[in-house]
Amino acid sequence: MNEFILKHVRNESQMLDLGQRMAKSCKNPATIFLYGELGAGKTTLVRGFLRGFGFKEAVKSPTYTIVESYSFDTMTVHHFDFYRINDPEELEFIGIKDYFSGNAICLVEWPEKAGQLLPPTDLSCYIEPHAIGRNVKWVAHTEKGMEILKRYKNEK
Ligand SMILES: Nc1ncnc2c1ncn2[C@@H]1O[C@H](COP(=O)(O)OP(=O)(O)OP(=O)(O)O)[C@@H](O)[C@H]1O
Ligand SMILES: [Mg+2]
Repeated sequence: MNEFILKHVRNESQMLDLGQRMAKSCKNPATIFLYGELGAGKTTLVRGFLRGFGFKEAVKSPTYTIVESYSFDTMTVHHFDFYRINDPEELEFIGIKDYFSGNAICLVEWPEKAGQLLPPTDLSCYIEPHAIGRNVKWVAHTEKGMEILKRYKNEK
């Protein structure tokens, strides 16, 4: 897979726009892993993503609840934050597999904390600090992921 997108995102508002546009390119169930240090902007990106589905209310960070789910007409979006997971077994306890096998888009903060429990991701998003704002890199790992990035590029 060699499909990727690299973007310089200057501020929070541009981060929201990026998430919103990526959501419009996600027409089918998919898994997206979000990587970046504390405060990188992962939740901000998810807020934008949910806006892309028409969600206008406040988005809660699932740091304590592990997952927040949002139902839309065409799709469910699950937003995970595994930062506080100490043992991947905690995820088996909440029935993690079911979330990933449903008709849903799964956005995952701190996927590295889940060990081997998660299915392979379609897309990875890496958020890195930059002198101004952030650099954001999207990498496709599957056909599905490639489709999303291609659609994103075509809808520019
Ligand atoms: N592109 C950007 N440029 C500058 N600031 C940004 C950008 N994107 C987000 N921020 C700001 O970074 C801060 C932290 O963002 P956010 O909560 O989304 O991080 P996070 O990666 O989810 O962190 P955590 O790992 O703690 O959940 C927010 O104040 C947000 O406004
Ligand atoms: Mg967060």
